[in-house]
Amino acid sequence: CGIVGVVGKPARDIILNGLTNLEYRGYDSAGIYLNDLNGNEYLTKAVGRISNLKEKLTPDEQGLVGIGHTRWATHGKPTVDNAHPHFDESKRFYLVHNGVIENYAELKEKYLQDVKFRSNTDTEVVVQLIGKIAREKNLDGFSAFKEALKLVKGSYAFLLVDNTEPDHVFIAKNKSPMMLGLGDGFNIIASDAISVLDQTKTFVDLQDGDVGDITKDSYTIETVDGEKVERKPHVLNIDPNAASKGTYEFYMLKEIDEQPSVMRKISQTYFDENGAVKVDPQIINSISKADRIYIYAAGTSYHAGLVGKTLLEHYTGIPTEVGLASEAGYHFPMMSKNPFFIFLTQSGETADSRVVLKEVNKRNIPSLTITNVEGSTLSREADYTMLLEAGPEIAVASTKAYTAQIAVQAVLAKALGEALNKEEAKNWNLKHDLAIAAEGMQQLVDSKEKLKEIADKYLINSRNAFYIGRGIDYAVALEGALKLKEVSYIQTEGFAAAELKHGTISLIEKGTPVIALINDPATADLTRGNIQEVVSRGANIITIVGKDFARESDDVVLPEINYYMSALLTVVPAQLLAYYASKDKGLDVDKPRNLAKSVTVE
Ligand code: G6P
Repeated sequence: CGIVGVVGKPARDIILNGLTNLEYRGYDSAGIYLNDLNGNEYLTKAVGRISNLKEKLTPDEQGLVGIGHTRWATHGKPTVDNAHPHFDESKRFYLVHNGVIENYAELKEKYLQDVKFRSNTDTEVVVQLIGKIAREKNLDGFSAFKEALKLVKGSYAFLLVDNTEPDHVFIAKNKSPMMLGLGDGFNIIASDAISVLDQTKTFVDLQDGDVGDITKDSYTIETVDGEKVERKPHVLNIDPNAASKGTYEFYMLKEIDEQPSVMRKISQTYFDENGAVKVDPQIINSISKADRIYIYAAGTSYHAGLVGKTLLEHYTGIPTEVGLASEAGYHFPMMSKNPFFIFLTQSGETADSRVVLKEVNKRNIPSLTITNVEGSTLSREADYTMLLEAGPEIAVASTKAYTAQIAVQAVLAKALGEALNKEEAKNWNLKHDLAIAAEGMQQLVDSKEKLKEIADKYLINSRNAFYIGRGIDYAVALEGALKLKEVSYIQTEGFAAAELKHGTISLIEKGTPVIALINDPATADLTRGNIQEVVSRGANIITIVGKDFARESDDVVLPEINYYMSALLTVVPAQLLAYYASKDKGLDVDKPRNLAKSVTVE
């Protein structure tokens, strides 16, 4: 979900634009509350995209204070009643919320038995609770809010307006992202800075436990117990154009095309003028003491971790485990003597990963977050951070963040391997490999028409599809399958090439598309054998093959690259296939149904 609030400036368009920029966080319904500080207030909600909400608003619905929300349903279906803002019985308080209230049922049962609810949301419970406390204890809005927060358990970023004091927005944050943007004579609160960069570049990072009172020219931050805390503003150095689509129809293609320049940026960031790899020595010092590395992540980042494992083990010799964060949070893995944890997270906000990091911190285990977002929660909470330098990724389906994660893990493997005096690492010209990757990616994106043809011919009319590969290609098969299914809705599975014959091959029918990836010298011939197995059962085979193993009949031949870096190239045609399959089916490529880019619930 995403939230935007404004105090002290015509709020409607700022909120609507901000919410549109935040749609990547979820988009099944949206709503806005506006107050003109002249006694008029307006509440409008709509199911679906922000554009539906825009259409519903009449020109006179304006305000100098406002709060808005775009929702990704957790509790309750996407309906108008369940859309935010929610309000209390007396229609005094209006609340938007990002997160999940864990004890909402208990709160309802204990304090709100006599209240009539309009929605099935956990959020309405909180606003009704605030209303009730204010009525019964005769409190001002901010005090009632703080009293209610003492009872609430869970994750939240709250924006609250009390219409008896409408020139304030009250805020609270716990485990859900929230930034305060400072303007001249106005202030803005939003889930992320990028969504309101056209309004200000000066931001205050809020921390878990912060409660705030925001007016047009002041902000006070305190704890629920009223203890003041100081949060200093800083200026964010992001080019607002980096987040714009330019001439592209969809962000996904823009971001696929940006990958060569991301590789160059990573090379510039992590190598000095003499070509030596450059990583914070404290990080290297800390990991070099580890006897085992544990990588935790979700979704595409998890797939990048699978590639990272191979890189780290090959160049550093340190055994490396990769796991799904959601599976480790409550079943913590067995630890070696000197573990080191790496969190891969594009957004730096994924709740599933945060749970693992919390446990890691409790046990005093050293940790590193590799993320695209400076100052994000996982970055702040880990001991160390390495940035992806990929620029904002807006399309829900991750592309350039994936390749950036692989490249940054390669940087780490190189620096760590050198520190450990490993021959493999010392002899590895990673800077050269990154240049080769950038060039190879450029060639692949320049021949994207070919992938469009393949997608149109073999994929868009298929119900299902498979990716197969071995070694690093297996990791890329998982990512290629995720990409294709998430944006095109063609059910696609990634398989270890040899494993198909142990069961799943029964799904191969005449015309089933199977995309085979071949880069691994040790198994290239064996995968060719697996291709024959599916071809003889009627599959339409699409091959993406490294130059050394290519045959005349192959569909995509990848430029030559070090096997350990091959995922950087293999994935590009897979991303393009997904893009065209989705676009040519007429789908909204950037915003596939049911998905959110940054999932801040467990
Ligand atoms: C969401 C996104 C995925 C992403 C995953 C992990 O589910 O839709 O594309 O891979 O979260 O996100 P992170 O920000 O932690 O990399």
